[in-house]
Amino acid sequence: MTYSRIAGTGAYLPEKVVANKDLEKSMETSDEWIRERTGICRRHIAADGETCSDMALAAARQAMEMAEIEATAIDLIIVGTVTPDKLFPSTACIIQRRLGIHGCPAFDIQAACSGFVYALDVANRQIQTGAATTALVIGSEVLSRITDWEDRGTAVLFGDGAGAVILQASDEQGIISTHIHSDGQYEDLLHVPQGFGTSSDGLRTEGAFIQMDGNAVFRRAVATLGSIARETLAGNGIDKHDIDWLIPHQANLRIISAAAKKLDLSMDHVVVTVDEHANTSSASIPLALNTAVRDGRIQRGQLLLFEAFGAGFTWGSALIRF
Ligand code: COA
Repeated sequence: MTYSRIAGTGAYLPEKVVANKDLEKSMETSDEWIRERTGICRRHIAADGETCSDMALAAARQAMEMAEIEATAIDLIIVGTVTPDKLFPSTACIIQRRLGIHGCPAFDIQAACSGFVYALDVANRQIQTGAATTALVIGSEVLSRITDWEDRGTAVLFGDGAGAVILQASDEQGIISTHIHSDGQYEDLLHVPQGFGTSSDGLRTEGAFIQMDGNAVFRRAVATLGSIARETLAGNGIDKHDIDWLIPHQANLRIISAAAKKLDLSMDHVVVTVDEHANTSSASIPLALNTAVRDGRIQRGQLLLFEAFGAGFTWGSALIRF
């Protein structure tokens, strides 16, 4: 059987750091409130002119270096993003051009904060069927550009960044299973209403920012992360105590802690980076993964569980032998 193995990880966070204290100057909030309710301490904000593909490329190059591959080895590129450089072509095609490679399939996946897990699911299936051998899978977001900086209910929650992995076909176990779901009935609980709408006026500019019912999203996220974990473990006949590392979507420390509790996992087995970069949507899982791989917590042979949840709602998981 052919598996997809994570051969390299990479990440990028913009240089500019905005701490909770900095936000106190521009809106009625406090460092204490943000830390207590979310676990977030700071976020990174892209510089003027810095794009989704700039960040994605930096993360990709790190992952390629760890995997010890040249760009010419890549035969599939998938980018999870809700903040692409352009409506089209896809950010994946822009990455392909910037890597100087030609011909392999390259496309974006829009599944909000579940974008990376969705991309991993598709890349894994491409590798398993033999359609690809070396996939570059990225999550990259400039959420600061769709954040309403006058809405304290959302502005404190989001940040910019990118994470990437190189997946390689292997006889050794790697991705054991992926699971993805959506339920569009929750569209209005978390959305950016901007789009082409129904008129012929072209792209509407009003409503260009994230709007969210935080309480409802919170409740749904906790319940859904519990159910996706049960589905993943039961589907593979694996006991929750066998998991070495939970790498959940980094949105809110309270959601992450609730997910860990459902798995009976101590927080020592959960990778948490939300304090450092806030919610970076599809970039958050690969950012967290890269941190724990590079600091030596995650070791080869360990069992990892990724869990994602986002607008749509979308949700998903991946069980991986690293
Ligand atoms: N600073 C200070 N006070 C704030 C605030 C801020 N940044 N944002 C909201 N408040 C206030 C509210 O106005 C409210 O005040 P009131 O009691 O006078 O009306 C109070 O804090 C409590 O608000 P509430 O919304 O009930 O807080 P909460 O405990 O539910 O926390 C979130 C709010 C947004 C942190 C929480 O609901 C959440 O994390 N939701 C999930 C969001 C998420 O992760 N989305 C992405 C999923 S992919």
